[in-house]
Amino acid sequence: RAIRLEEYRPSDYLIDRVDLDISLDAHATKVRAMLAIRPNPEGTPGAPLTLDGDELALEALALNGETLAETAYTCQPDRLTIANPPRDAFSLTIETVIDPTANTKLMGLYRSNGVYCTQCEAEGFRRITYFLDRPDVMAVYTTRIEAAREEAPILLGNGNPVAAGDLPGGRHFAVWDDPHPKPSYLFALVGGDLGSVTRDFVTKGGRAVRLAIYVESGKQERAHYALDALERSMRWDEDVFGREYDLDVFNIVAVSDFNMGAMENKGLNIFNDKYVLASPETATDADYAHIEAIIAHEYFHNWTGNRITCRDWFQLCLKEGLTVFRDQEFSSDERSRAVERINAVRTLRARQFTEDAGPLAHPVRPREYREINNFYTATVYEKGAEIIRMLKILLGDDAFACGMDLYFARHDNEATTVEAFLACFARASGQDLTHFALWYEQAGTPRVVVSSHYDSDKRQYRLDFAQSTPSTPGQPTKDPLVIPIALGLVDHDGGALDHRAEGLSDGVFVLRHSSDSLIFRDVDARPVPSVLRGFSAPVRLSLDLDDTGLLTLVRHDSDAFNRWQAGQNVATRLLTRAARDEGDAAGETATQALAEALGSFLDAQAAQDPAFAALMLTLPPESEIAQEIGKDVDPDAIHRAREALRDTIARALAPRLEALRAIPVAAGPYSPDAASAGVRALRNIALDLLVKADAAGIIEALAAQYDNADNMTDRLAALTSAVHSPTVPDALRQRLLTDFRNRFDDEPLVIDKWFALQSGRAEPDTLAAIAELMQDTAFSINNPNRVRALIGAFAMNNPTQFHRADGAGYDFLADQVIALDARNPQVAARLLTAFNSWRMMEPGRRAKAQAALERVASRDGLSGDVADIVQRTLD
Ligand code: ARG
Ligand code: ZN
Repeated sequence: RAIRLEEYRPSDYLIDRVDLDISLDAHATKVRAMLAIRPNPEGTPGAPLTLDGDELALEALALNGETLAETAYTCQPDRLTIANPPRDAFSLTIETVIDPTANTKLMGLYRSNGVYCTQCEAEGFRRITYFLDRPDVMAVYTTRIEAAREEAPILLGNGNPVAAGDLPGGRHFAVWDDPHPKPSYLFALVGGDLGSVTRDFVTKGGRAVRLAIYVESGKQERAHYALDALERSMRWDEDVFGREYDLDVFNIVAVSDFNMGAMENKGLNIFNDKYVLASPETATDADYAHIEAIIAHEYFHNWTGNRITCRDWFQLCLKEGLTVFRDQEFSSDERSRAVERINAVRTLRARQFTEDAGPLAHPVRPREYREINNFYTATVYEKGAEIIRMLKILLGDDAFACGMDLYFARHDNEATTVEAFLACFARASGQDLTHFALWYEQAGTPRVVVSSHYDSDKRQYRLDFAQSTPSTPGQPTKDPLVIPIALGLVDHDGGALDHRAEGLSDGVFVLRHSSDSLIFRDVDARPVPSVLRGFSAPVRLSLDLDDTGLLTLVRHDSDAFNRWQAGQNVATRLLTRAARDEGDAAGETATQALAEALGSFLDAQAAQDPAFAALMLTLPPESEIAQEIGKDVDPDAIHRAREALRDTIARALAPRLEALRAIPVAAGPYSPDAASAGVRALRNIALDLLVKADAAGIIEALAAQYDNADNMTDRLAALTSAVHSPTVPDALRQRLLTDFRNRFDDEPLVIDKWFALQSGRAEPDTLAAIAELMQDTAFSINNPNRVRALIGAFAMNNPTQFHRADGAGYDFLADQVIALDARNPQVAARLLTAFNSWRMMEPGRRAKAQAALERVASRDGLSGDVADIVQRTLD
């Protein structure tokens, strides 16, 4: 049942052209596909032709226009086989009928809020028609779509619109033509009654492009920010990567039922409406930033993913890691580079490091899978992006840019591989990247240990490096990786350091062996090392630096990332000790020192860079402390430790926090720009800390902020503090929660925030509250956003309650996964990954988690998606 990379073989047949005729109907949509097929010169001559299907019903089949005799083929819902197809080119006409309303898996053609839409990545096209549904079969498509005009006045397809018109009986049609060859996973269509916003864009090369974003009628006002982000993305890709758009139209459609974030279908991106719709009253600054990043991500796929696609699904990181890297660079250019980097690393640690340390760990390019949908992971996406970032650091900006250009030139219109990608960079740089390529093959997060030695007689300073990677499922032993380590010596940052140490180039030391050293000459006094600047490699770093050294970095490091990291390291040390019940007087002194360092940092820099200051004031998340402890974890102890440290710091900084509350946001109406968002972030974290410190008058200030806010960021921040702070009186908390629920009764995306807030409460009655919230009229188990907001947020973001000692959190999630699996296996499987860290727990919880997992595993009729996750999680 497992599919293996080494078993890849080219398809025996190719499909050059696809002509689709799709007549939309709520229950019986007719699909006629005319495929121009020919034997692949690289395949086996005379092989049977086997097309993929999934829950399909065949209505008719013709070869070269002649109905095919029933003896000439066999057909099942999941495959159509023609034993002896012609030896040269032929056409196959296939008619299927599908029920989009009954499609609760949200893969293939389905209806969301009355809108017909599709999702074909990875293997959804086979739910529309029988096909060679693999990314190395690339074809040119035309799509004729027909529907009742009243139900679906808007009909959209891939490529350019070429014809449209009325039909008898109130029906109409549109024809779309996509001249660019593409794999079937990029096919899309939409039919519905939608409103739109549009803009004209002219590419550098002079192509006029009509941009449009389609949303639920009446919500057009909320699509302007996304449209603006799209235009900026298109300009940026021209300026930075030299990539221009290649069709006359670019359409985006927002739908409310969507299994993931968004999808890069050629010329017709389809989005979860959460990542399109925004207004000051309903979206937070973070929502705006996500919209910008995802609009950019999907747009950037036009070149990294669509023009150049993946040979097979093992190569998923080829498009995803690279495209995440590109969207991160875009956001860094549009916003604050340091803040973007810190946020990306926080996400990486929370999601990818956790994945890499658990039973679902896999290489960025996996070697085998049973269900490809389960490999759209933080490892493929986020670690995949880190590999590209390392490549850029190792090669330098110019060689990296040449490598990208070569990749676009060499592989345009191809379905290719990671090897082919790396070969472009090897060629462009003259470097051998064979060893570097191990990053794609080897799972697990490397640990890099650095120790420092100063010899005052020789005036030499030495850094010793050692790397090791823990074993992961299927990979018991590991080899050393190529790890670029950007570093500096803080006392010497004024002048370049490279000449003082052999092996340092542009401030980067490359660790290639299991251990190595770097010697600096002419060093007058023991310096403070700043290692892994900008988080130059996705590793865990241990550095033998005491708190004094770390606090020096907080104050003086020229690298903003490491200034932030140093503060995090001091906090992590304190939290780890406290959670292990090793808190002592030394810990109290260290806490005071941290508070003082943060205080002087705030005095010096908070006003200049509020967004960064807000991050400085944020303690490492509980999940990171759990990772640090690594085994026999007690999530309650971690939670208590973090609360206590935060309260102490809040009290120590209280007067300064009052001052931060007063930093003005730029005058005028709400604007989601990064600078304004940064001020709000700082003011709101100050509010939260003051609430935790029970400062005089702060409860009234919180209530006032909630009541008077003219934007969702400030209103939700006040509500969040109220929900998560024991110092806030119950009556106030209840008043605000009720107000919020009523105020946004007709705003499902806002109610999701309300669900997530309550399901994330670290209180013993949260589970009971969730059971009640599931009865709320706004909740629906059929909508993935609702499920992720209420159930997902509980499982992923509420460690004390999900990992309750009595196992009730595990049982609840197991029940929900089982119930959901029957409707939507992808969403169910994703929820189940919350069990990823179960082996790290103390024995009592571990046993309860195992029992819950075994209960899921023993169910009859599990989907392949859930069966795959539960088996790997238990193995
Ligand atoms: N390619 C899409 C993106 O990253 C995501 C598709 C996810 N598909 C899936 N089956 N999980 O933009
Ligand atoms: Zn993507």
